[in-house]
Amino acid sequence: MKDSKIRRIGILTGGGDCPGLNGVLRAVVKTCRFEYGIDVVGIQDGYGGLINDRMRTLTSDDVSGILARGGTILGSSNKDNPFRVPVSEGGETTFRDLSDQAIKNAQRHGLELLVVVGGDGSLNIAYELSKKGLPVVGVPKTIDNDLDATDVTFGFDSALSTATDAADKLHTTADSHHRLMVLELMGRYAGWIALEAGMAGGGDVILIPEIPFDIEKVAQAVRERGYRGRNFAVVVVAEGAAPKGGEMMVDRRIADSTDAVRLGGIGRWVAEELERRLEWEARTTVLGHLQRGGSPTAFDRLLATRFGVEAVRLVATGQHGRMVSIHGTTIDSVTLEEAVVRLRRVDPESQIVQAARAVGTSFGD
Ligand code: F6P
Repeated sequence: MKDSKIRRIGILTGGGDCPGLNGVLRAVVKTCRFEYGIDVVGIQDGYGGLINDRMRTLTSDDVSGILARGGTILGSSNKDNPFRVPVSEGGETTFRDLSDQAIKNAQRHGLELLVVVGGDGSLNIAYELSKKGLPVVGVPKTIDNDLDATDVTFGFDSALSTATDAADKLHTTADSHHRLMVLELMGRYAGWIALEAGMAGGGDVILIPEIPFDIEKVAQAVRERGYRGRNFAVVVVAEGAAPKGGEMMVDRRIADSTDAVRLGGIGRWVAEELERRLEWEARTTVLGHLQRGGSPTAFDRLLATRFGVEAVRLVATGQHGRMVSIHGTTIDSVTLEEAVVRLRRVDPESQIVQAARAVGTSFGD
């Protein structure tokens, strides 16, 4: 066994789920048990389990056979925040700070440190908890791939593969019916999924939040495709894309969520606007949560495993207040403060956008 001052840790998966979470849980539990003899307690449903004291010990048997399974065996939540817990009194909902209660629950279970597997919302909360004295190690996850402190997060590659498959399938039916197919993809305020699935799936137009579009130019790109004898088109739209001078479209607001805004609706709007301007019939597909489900790709299984192993190394060597990350092919780490400071968005001048333009993709700008 290797040395570790820490003997017992808690782990939770917070925020929207994604393929690969179980791979991290498996790697953390197995490395803790086999390499260091550290006990691991699994906290149910993200921070909800920490606030309401729902935890159970995880053995290596509990995590055996889960690497290829989507979702998270612990459950997750993108609502529960110990610093802002909704409390209903007399028909009114107010928010209370129950972070002291959450920390006390961790202490009662003898947890010396918390491993938080989450996106920017969950990692922000982790950072606040660490400032209140609960040592934390972060592991980044999100299908949106929008954390600036790491080159890539697990979950993204799996979502990308699902989204590319959808674009491929839309191509064949678009071709048969000579239609315009609009595919709306997730990603929140970053266009990574739409950009990369749009490119990999041969989308004719890609609309992303970082490049505001002009619907007339989108229509013109489709028309020109028609002049070249191509009588169908696939338009890939990020849920956060917006026309020049316009706002992102909001599908709903969830008051008790870390980020209340849920985007959606732009795909349908684009389809209707194009149908009005062109001779072609249009259909919209909103891929939605299919992008978050299913088995992780080999890439995500590997990244999840490497992140989990590194997280335990940070725990055992006393490097708290850090989040594991990958730069190039090297697994390293950054401070939690650096981890949550900036979102990673698509640079409109980047090589990847230029490559898309070079092969004739329109961004509608
Ligand atoms: O952050 C992950 C994500 O899937 C976003 O791409 C999307 O905007 C959001 O979560 C959807 O959240 P919910 O699961 O609450 O609908």
